[in-house]
Amino acid sequence: LLRSQLKTPALLVDMDAMEANLRKMAAFFAEGPTQLRPHYKNHKCVALARRQLAHGAVGITCATLGEAEALSRSGIQGILLANEIASPTQIERFVQIARVTDIMVGVDNERAVSALSAASAQAKVPLSVVVDVDTGMGRCGVLPGAPALALAQQAVAQGLSLRGLIGYEGHCVRLEPGPAKNEAVQQAMGKLFGTANLIRSHGLAVEIVSGGGTGTYSISGRIPGVTEIQGGSYLLMDTGYQAICPDFALALSVLGTVISRTGNERLILNIGLKEISAERGLPVLKNTAGAKLRKLNAEHAIVEILNPDLTVQIGDQLELWVHYSDCTVNLHRHMFGIRNGQVEETFLLES
Ligand SMILES: Cc1ncc(COP(=O)(O)O)c(C=O)c1O
Repeated sequence: LLRSQLKTPALLVDMDAMEANLRKMAAFFAEGPTQLRPHYKNHKCVALARRQLAHGAVGITCATLGEAEALSRSGIQGILLANEIASPTQIERFVQIARVTDIMVGVDNERAVSALSAASAQAKVPLSVVVDVDTGMGRCGVLPGAPALALAQQAVAQGLSLRGLIGYEGHCVRLEPGPAKNEAVQQAMGKLFGTANLIRSHGLAVEIVSGGGTGTYSISGRIPGVTEIQGGSYLLMDTGYQAICPDFALALSVLGTVISRTGNERLILNIGLKEISAERGLPVLKNTAGAKLRKLNAEHAIVEILNPDLTVQIGDQLELWVHYSDCTVNLHRHMFGIRNGQVEETFLLES
């Protein structure tokens, strides 16, 4: 199948770019003591998760029970659900996964620890937790130091398996690369491994100390005391991230068809907010000089023609670079792997 034969809109991945990103990140982690447990939420693709594992990843991180279920169904082990679960239904789903899968979940509240402990005892399924520490992001997480220690002690006392700590330094990701960013990441990760050492000094084992994303991997991934990094966007990348982290190549785009042209004024593509995210900024056209995306409606992309010599006509196909991969991938069931203008592989996206 040729790319030009695909039904549009279609989510595309440039196989050469994706594979280069895969190898580059693997090489970074091959050199250091810190390991990679890449985030699934960015691609939601089990086939890509398997490729990351084949390139040295120690497991897969995810954000939701649905993602964990998709990974578990495929037999993937070493899942880190780097998020909180709270309701009885959520805990029951987690127990079902834990019956057949090595999986751990974040905890930041004593009620959750008690509920997980009770569910574990009732189902006779051992459950693994990581204490989620707020390293400054201000989202989930217990405070570092004594509050995290108390939660870790409670987890162990109530029969849960304490695997370690997580603490994603999301507040540092968007800082300009440079000394101030390095310092902010060092501080955040210092709180995390400082807490790990405190817990160890009270006689508990802390195997995993996990944080880091694509915007901080090169700093956090070289901090002694941090054992793993959770970055995931590096594999497909997007134009939002490229400004922060130019280490990796853009691989993700959406293919559309030009369905209207109004003189030398504008083109309309059949790609809208239902196919591509504009939450964090407007996407830009790939390989198309002389035109600029101005607006996205639900079903339409409105493109201004800047150069009247632009030869694009209705029926032609154009691509938009994805600006925010996380919130675009979830809008698609399939992603088409493109090499040399051919569809090499069709990826199923699951959660
Ligand atoms: C818990 C957690 N870990 C890691 C990441 C980093 O992922 P990325 O590679 O997209 O920066 C995120 C992103 O939001 C996250 O929420």
